Amino acid sequence: MTSTLLLDALRGRNHNRPPIWLMRQAGRYMPSYQKIRERASFLEMCTKPELIEKVTLLPIQELNVDAAILFSDILLVPQALGFDLRFDESKGPIITNPLESISDLSKFQIQHQFPFVTEAIHSLKKRLKVPLIGFAGAPFTLASYIIEGTLSRDLKKTKKWLYQDIEGFTKILHFLEKAIIQSLKIQIQAGCEVIQLFDSWAHVLSIPQFEQLCLQSLTRIVQALNVPTIYFCKNSSFLAPLIAKTGVTAISLDWLKPLHEVRANLPQHPLQGNLDPSALHLPKTLMKNEVQKILQSMHKDPRFIFNLGHGILPDAPYDQVKHLIDLVKNSV
Ligand code: CP3
Repeated sequence: MTSTLLLDALRGRNHNRPPIWLMRQAGRYMPSYQKIRERASFLEMCTKPELIEKVTLLPIQELNVDAAILFSDILLVPQALGFDLRFDESKGPIITNPLESISDLSKFQIQHQFPFVTEAIHSLKKRLKVPLIGFAGAPFTLASYIIEGTLSRDLKKTKKWLYQDIEGFTKILHFLEKAIIQSLKIQIQAGCEVIQLFDSWAHVLSIPQFEQLCLQSLTRIVQALNVPTIYFCKNSSFLAPLIAKTGVTAISLDWLKPLHEVRANLPQHPLQGNLDPSALHLPKTLMKNEVQKILQSMHKDPRFIFNLGHGILPDAPYDQVKHLIDLVKNSV
């Protein structure tokens, strides 16, 4: 491996410039991605090993980022459990048979061991000179998808379920947790060196709910894995001290708080983030100011990983993304 910056930062001993990779680094903002996507559906791209490999490599070849993230989606775990997953061009993901009662849970069980993922990781490992990040959705976020069936801002059905029947809701989380651990172990076994957990919808919860429904299972997931882990949720800037107690290696932060303020309360944890993805849409000099603020506030921090505070937007200007990578790579 030629770049160990990410692994060094996760071990708390990076004495070079910070590593950089971006959430959703392989996506529609890339002309090369669009070209592949014209001929294949998104689900085909996530399940054909040669396409997974090709798309995972795009940001490595074009942007020279310091880590690859497996091209996949958090909803492939529910799909493997028997949930019927479609991607609608305008509405995004849709599950046509959402979970309606706790007794229906027994109808769902893992139907395959993600052989296409194992095959893609094996060939990626032969070609990559940077670490490969595997990932999964965290239980609460996946629960919200299998209950709502579609993107929902307020998660009304999910919240109604958890307020009315916390015991049943906890059963759903445990059920998903087992499948998530299984899929992550497959990714690690095949060669992923780092795991990121995405809990994108956890910010709708109260803090006590977040501790009970997200952090308890995060603790178990982290314990079940033998590689460094990164946890992403919105609101992580405020929740970081709580998240740190789970034993997760690193926390991926949104842009709500300056990183040095989070660092002041968490001296030992690797921190990842936190450029507002909207900064990519600014004129070059203004974007540079925002990037510099982050670089300066984390100057020479051995536990810092540069990333966005959430995924790249599909219409991010490609040249700006390239410029961002160059700014971080040329920093000292
Ligand atoms: O980061 C990467 O480059 C790896 C690939 C990756 C994708 N999705 C590819 C994708 C990762 C890590 C994800 C995670 C994911 N998927 C999350 C958590 C992160 C977050 O953004 O909060 C969530 C909530 C999903 C579910 C999902 N998948 C949604 C809501 C959508 C539709 C919205 C959208 O951005 O289009 C997707 C589709 C999706 N996942 C695309 C990509 C590249 C776009 C697919 C296309 O080409 O049409």
